[in-house]
Amino acid sequence: MNILLLGSGGREHALAWKIKQSKKLNELYIAPGNAGTALCGHNVSIDSLDFEKIKDFVIDNNIQMLVVGPETPLVEGIHDFFNRDIALQHIAVIGPEKMGAMMEGSKDFSKKFMIKHGIPTAAYKTFTKNEIRDGVVFINSLEPPYVLKADGLAAGKGVIITENQGEAVQILNYMLADAMFGEASSKVVIEEYLSGIELSVFVATDGNSYKILPVAKDYKRIGEGDSGPNTGGMGSVSHVPFADKVFMHKVEQKIVIPTINGLKQDNIPYKGFIFIGLMNVKGEPYVIEYNARLGDPETETVIPRIKSDIIDLFEGIANGNLAGKEIIFDERTAVCIMLVSKGYPDSYQKGKMIRNLDKIADSLVFHAGTTTDKSGNIITNGGRVIAITSFGDSIEEAKAISLKNAEIIDFEGKYYRKDIGKDLIKQ
Ligand code: AMP
Ligand code: GLY
Repeated sequence: MNILLLGSGGREHALAWKIKQSKKLNELYIAPGNAGTALCGHNVSIDSLDFEKIKDFVIDNNIQMLVVGPETPLVEGIHDFFNRDIALQHIAVIGPEKMGAMMEGSKDFSKKFMIKHGIPTAAYKTFTKNEIRDGVVFINSLEPPYVLKADGLAAGKGVIITENQGEAVQILNYMLADAMFGEASSKVVIEEYLSGIELSVFVATDGNSYKILPVAKDYKRIGEGDSGPNTGGMGSVSHVPFADKVFMHKVEQKIVIPTINGLKQDNIPYKGFIFIGLMNVKGEPYVIEYNARLGDPETETVIPRIKSDIIDLFEGIANGNLAGKEIIFDERTAVCIMLVSKGYPDSYQKGKMIRNLDKIADSLVFHAGTTTDKSGNIITNGGRVIAITSFGDSIEEAKAISLKNAEIIDFEGKYYRKDIGKDLIKQ
């Protein structure tokens, strides 16, 4: 099989690394990819939103499967584009159609879905530009902290949480009246604050049956002890000790099954991954958000824990026979530490030479923001640069290996968190 994978981050390198191991693979192409994906297949310089160019490439290279990494092409309707085109209809697309991608593309849509199908989530109300006054009344009725969310995609920046009521009102005004996030904040969801510990649950579905992948926890804040601004993710751990049998039974019964049944009931076709962001509130799972794709950097610990063939899993998703597929998991724990550029998540420099990548033997090294310069050197090309994933029989063991290798791989301005997984280790 010839596969085209869309995206250019650590998630895509982890996927490319796994796809490359399949006996079912003929050629793998990654658009646009990074210096790491180039080690697993052929990078092609096509933007993942340039659907016409993707079409030409797919036809010219006899691609049989399109795997969509990031959310934007899904929300923009790449799957629908393939379905509509007679020359592309036969190609399997891993990732939902536009309607399913709305689960991520519109917070208002996903909240309505959760309420309709009885899926536990924070109480909320949605407001538009003409309803700012009602929004202020709603804010005044809530206890702090206040959670305000731009309805649409806002590059991970659309959620603002503040303790201060005046600031919450100000942000509501910025979002609605001043279009702080453009069209994405033409509606704002204001919701109850959930206090607890977060968990990422990835579910593969063919629209009918489902498989729950190993769960993971990511570390969003830039600073140790979960301090400072949010990032795309500074590391991840899989498995997560508090997600034991009892908790996961609740997740499956109260969230996963109602979600899959809700999609069917609402006639929302869905072939791909649903990433459920959960909050564990005193042992009860609540949905914080749905995403229409895999998470990053959770993918860098979850995908290496799948032992079975990933193309076989993709075929199950695409052909509607996922129920008959066996997925085998690695029981060990994986810990990923992300090396980032100094200054991230604000401004940072690119183009720094990355050294010692060849000195790592006992970890998986996934490239997030890297590229190759004219002389063939691998250089930094993003805020998040390199994800280092290691296995162990415990979080401590896996983390120690990732930390050791985080010291060895080097570039000017390298920064990483040394406390990934620390909150999960029993004292
Ligand atoms: P999202 O973009 O929806 O993933 O939200 C970003 C982050 O904001 C989440 O990962 C949570 O840490 C936090 N968050 C979102 N909604 C809530 C909520 N209702 N209560 C507490 N924290 C939240
Ligand atoms: N790690 C969170 C995300 O990918 O959105």
